[in-house]
Amino acid sequence: MADLDDLREGADFNTSIPVKQTGFHIKGAENLPWGMKDRLNRIFNPQTGKTVMLAFDHGFIMGPTSGLERIDLTIEPLIQYADSIMCTRGILRSSVPANCNKPICLRADAGTSILTELNNNVVIDIEDAIRLNTSALAIMLAIGDKSMEAKTIANLYQTVDKATRYGIPVMGVTAVGTDMARDARYFGLASRICAENGANVVKTYYCDGFEKVVSGCPVPIVIAGGKKLEEYEALDLCYRAIQEGAAGVDMGRNVFQSEAPAAMIQAVHSVVHEGLTARQGYQLYTELKEKS
Ligand code: 5RP
Repeated sequence: MADLDDLREGADFNTSIPVKQTGFHIKGAENLPWGMKDRLNRIFNPQTGKTVMLAFDHGFIMGPTSGLERIDLTIEPLIQYADSIMCTRGILRSSVPANCNKPICLRADAGTSILTELNNNVVIDIEDAIRLNTSALAIMLAIGDKSMEAKTIANLYQTVDKATRYGIPVMGVTAVGTDMARDARYFGLASRICAENGANVVKTYYCDGFEKVVSGCPVPIVIAGGKKLEEYEALDLCYRAIQEGAAGVDMGRNVFQSEAPAAMIQAVHSVVHEGLTARQGYQLYTELKEKS
């Protein structure tokens, strides 16, 4: 137990010194066994080390939210442009073609909805995750939430225990409570706690000082897009996150609620993998949108 009367905020992140990586392109994965590496390698492009994960798991908590009413019509055409997809087992089985050939990051926890308080109390049976040939499992952590923090950390911990047995990586998903500051201190704390408890990837949010969040986290960080923004702003968010060390995006609403979702995901892809600036990405978005 740390001495609570002497908590010193980290200040020496050495953000200009990249973590030494010798044999493998994914941060913190060098010591993992082959199956883990293979699954992570399917998610993170070995040429760029980055990923564009298309997230459409929102229905597990929000129901048929805008853009996800008909997954078959709105999401299926986008899957081809994603490096990986994130969804629930129900949507995977019912609405994602089994020949899409994309690595699956499976939303592996459940137990709450937007109608009630956070009550996250179920994690997937590992055998079901194996049946679905998942490349990673995603577990939400509510760091700072008095009633749910310990429960969700335990969910992550136990999921890592089960998934590691079968070489399946786990992504820690940092949920932000309404009373949490959305700053580098909070996201740095939450991300590090995910990694310390065994997450192989962390999904969090971009914020000022994001490079410190990345630097203090020993595994790759992907950013969620969050609420729908104007397309230029969303591309700028991606650009800044990538420039400051994100290993990719796990983006949902800013793609599937865009005026031109297929154009948007392709523009995001170019910003993430080809280093396009937000302006260049937006130019690509408008060109593709006009052609569509
Ligand atoms: C929903 C999630 C989403 O997958 C995540 O937030 C990414 O989606 P968006 O870009 O829309 O925020 O975890 O529970």
